[in-house]
Amino acid sequence: MKRALVTGGASGIGAALVSRLRAEGLEVESLDLVTGFDVSDSEHWEAVGPVDVACLNAGVLGGEADPALLALDGYRRAIAVNVDGVVLGVRHLARVMPAGGRIVCTASLAGLTAVPDDPVYALTKHAVVGFVRSVAPALGARGIAINAICPGFADTPMVAGAARSALEDAGFPLLTAADVAEAAWVALESGETGHAWVVQPGRSPIDFRFPTLPGPRTAADEQVGMPPPLA
Ligand SMILES: NC(=O)c1ccc[n+]([C@@H]2O[C@H](COP(=O)([O-])OP(=O)(O)OC[C@H]3O[C@@H](n4cnc5c(N)ncnc54)[C@H](O)[C@@H]3O)[C@@H](O)[C@H]2O)c1
Repeated sequence: MKRALVTGGASGIGAALVSRLRAEGLEVESLDLVTGFDVSDSEHWEAVGPVDVACLNAGVLGGEADPALLALDGYRRAIAVNVDGVVLGVRHLARVMPAGGRIVCTASLAGLTAVPDDPVYALTKHAVVGFVRSVAPALGARGIAINAICPGFADTPMVAGAARSALEDAGFPLLTAADVAEAAWVALESGETGHAWVVQPGRSPIDFRFPTLPGPRTAADEQVGMPPPLA
């Protein structure tokens, strides 16, 4: 039987990922803080054995819009869980995962767009997207695929309080945790690597296309592309 791990598997999207992978016949282990596993602790990762599928999903909010009010412990916790948790997981999996292994990281739409209500959360999720895109070739050389999923708001304990009320008042549709788990499965099965998959209510997962960056302007470009001198 193929084996899988899910970080943050005790709640919300992680719990749905555990169920989704079990439905595919995988033997799934949940690694969660509530059961004693801290994704930000490299020693905890050392004890993790080889798996065929890994969902690096544990995450927390930053929780403050105003940088002047940012509490250092909350900031460091968000970096530790959302960034270290993914990097340390990938670092370990690169060492133990067999060829053919597949990793999916739960980033967020906050990894693709600005989030003025929680800039630290946006920072960490942009980091996950950039890391996944950048590490894919090195993992590919080991026969391992990695993708990121970028869900919009999902109906989990993470979306609570005033944020949930505001979404409900606006009639904004939420994803279910099962929707996100399904999208993760699509990304895992896609045959792609280094891609970011947008997950929105009512849509199939979208393989997000990043715009091409402008390159340097060369002397040749200048001869062709320079506008005529102003009269
Ligand atoms: N809910 C949303 O709207 C939404 C949208 C996009 C992305 N996400 C992302 O999805 C992932 C799961 O979020 P969720 O909504 O299911 O939240 P959740 O709060 O329901 O679950 C998060 C889980 O992560 C665990 N966790 C926290 N710190 C940990 C640590 N250091 N080590 C191990 N486990 C830890 C928690 O115990 C919890 O079980 C997160 O990465 C989150 O950023 C959520």
